[in-house]
Amino acid sequence: MVLQMATRRAMSSLLNRSFRLLGGRGAGLASGSQRFGTAAALDEPITPPVEVKYTKLLINGQFVDSASGKTFPTLDPRTGEVIAHVSEGDTEDINRAVASARKAFDEGPWPRMTGYERSRILNRFADLIDKHSDELAGLETWDNGKPYEQSALAEVPTLSRLFRYYAGWSDKIHGLVVPADGPHHVQVLHEPIGVAGQIIPWNFPLLMFAWKVGPALACGNTIVLKSAEQTPLTALYAAKLLHEAGLPDGVLNVISGYGPTAGAALANHMDVDKLAFTGSTETGKIVLELAARSNLKPVTLELGGKSPMIILDDADVDKAVELAHFALFFNQGQCCCAGSRTFVHERVYDEFVEKAKARALRRVVGDPFKKGVEQGPQIDDEQFSKVMRYIKSGVNSGATLESGGDRIGNKGYYIQPTIFSNVKDEMEIAKDEIFGPVQSILKFKDIDEVIRRANATHYGLAAGVFTSNIDKANTLTRALRAGTVWVNCFDVFDAAIPFGGYKMSGQGREKGIDSLKNYLQIKAVVTSLKNPAWL
Ligand code: NAI
Ligand code: MG
Repeated sequence: MVLQMATRRAMSSLLNRSFRLLGGRGAGLASGSQRFGTAAALDEPITPPVEVKYTKLLINGQFVDSASGKTFPTLDPRTGEVIAHVSEGDTEDINRAVASARKAFDEGPWPRMTGYERSRILNRFADLIDKHSDELAGLETWDNGKPYEQSALAEVPTLSRLFRYYAGWSDKIHGLVVPADGPHHVQVLHEPIGVAGQIIPWNFPLLMFAWKVGPALACGNTIVLKSAEQTPLTALYAAKLLHEAGLPDGVLNVISGYGPTAGAALANHMDVDKLAFTGSTETGKIVLELAARSNLKPVTLELGGKSPMIILDDADVDKAVELAHFALFFNQGQCCCAGSRTFVHERVYDEFVEKAKARALRRVVGDPFKKGVEQGPQIDDEQFSKVMRYIKSGVNSGATLESGGDRIGNKGYYIQPTIFSNVKDEMEIAKDEIFGPVQSILKFKDIDEVIRRANATHYGLAAGVFTSNIDKANTLTRALRAGTVWVNCFDVFDAAIPFGGYKMSGQGREKGIDSLKNYLQIKAVVTSLKNPAWL
């Protein structure tokens, strides 16, 4: 996720670096560019050294076929064509992976080694991520469709940063000695929780890998991770690098496969001690129920959102437009925390809509392997169709379509940056998570009204506020019921900042010190003291 965007200078130096490394070797990736923006993308392809090396399941340190021998295709969102066939895990593979993680936890070195030893392996992994950043970024873009410049400049550097952050925690996790009434020496031990089951989505495959795997490993757990069926490639690549860094076999097992089969088997497993999930609220409820019905494993959930982005009347409208544009359109609009309800004060509303429309028309949509492209295709046909349905619903419900509204080209899953004005709270497009490049702009009169309307949702993941009035900002940050409130910024993520949702946006927090709690058991050890006089 973003990640404060790198400067243009950093961007061009990184791209030059990858050009040098490539020496002109193409991977056959650049296809015809499709564009919406009038500010043309440079027609210059970027050709990272991308190659699909790993397609099998990773169980006990080995790449193996699925028990059924079945595979499934992973597709290039630019064209819908097959990139590779990947082993399809199901219940039997999950059972094998959990058995391997169980053995690695019960008998293996990982939970028993010192935190410092674990930190060295995680730091070596971070170094390997940096070394292979071009391949990782290329593979991420190929499988997911996000602009390569975003993968290379924001996501992969953040991936290594996150693992360095968790490497830093590995040798600083410890319990307490607490006083008690009576002749007792009381220790509160923090132990790893055991085998963690982790299910991740397709919108940020590598970052979701880090948010899940980082804290679990820092605390000494073992893992079975199920990647999203749309984007299985980078988790396998990253897991391989982690083994190269010295991770013992069986500590991280990676299963590619579908949700209702492999995912459900993991959530339902009696020998999985903890479950972490990111995805839709609907599926979050399913996995929570599976966890409850099986062995009551604790669950953390990071789910959907319908985050308000509130622009007050003192705002510099040009800056507000740019920020709100970024808050919604970043990552093709496929962000759980997207600022998808743009509330604008009535005094600046008309000017804002005009400028937001102009900005959307300038957005450069095209082949993510081309320089200067801001928006690639949506992930797949299902998401593409869902977004197009919501655009129709916006039109039918009487919102004003200011820009976009259509697909681009007839191949792949490109959608025009779309803006609706005159959106009303009760419209579907103002209530549901669209997860695409569709900005809904709503008008408000005063702060109390916007607080009430912004909070009138079952979601509570994030919110944005744009104002230079400190008192109004403070009022809003306290009143908004959301796990993150960004003031005069948006999508600022940092390894140390906790992230998660209120209400139906989730349970628990990821990143930061709070993420460690998800992966620790607490044990009280009470020892009778023979000589209480010395207490
Ligand atoms: P999803 O929630 O169904 O999938 C996310 C992960 O859960 C994938 O790994 C999937 O294989 C797995 N899964 C699906 N069904 C499962 C089941 N029954 N048991 C266990 N695991 C299961 O999300 P999907 O279908 O990819 O997208 C649907 C909508 O969800 C999107 O349009 C978007 O609104 C939202 N979404 C939110 C994300 C977030 O970051 N919070 C990420 C992806 C999607
Ligand atoms: Mg689904």
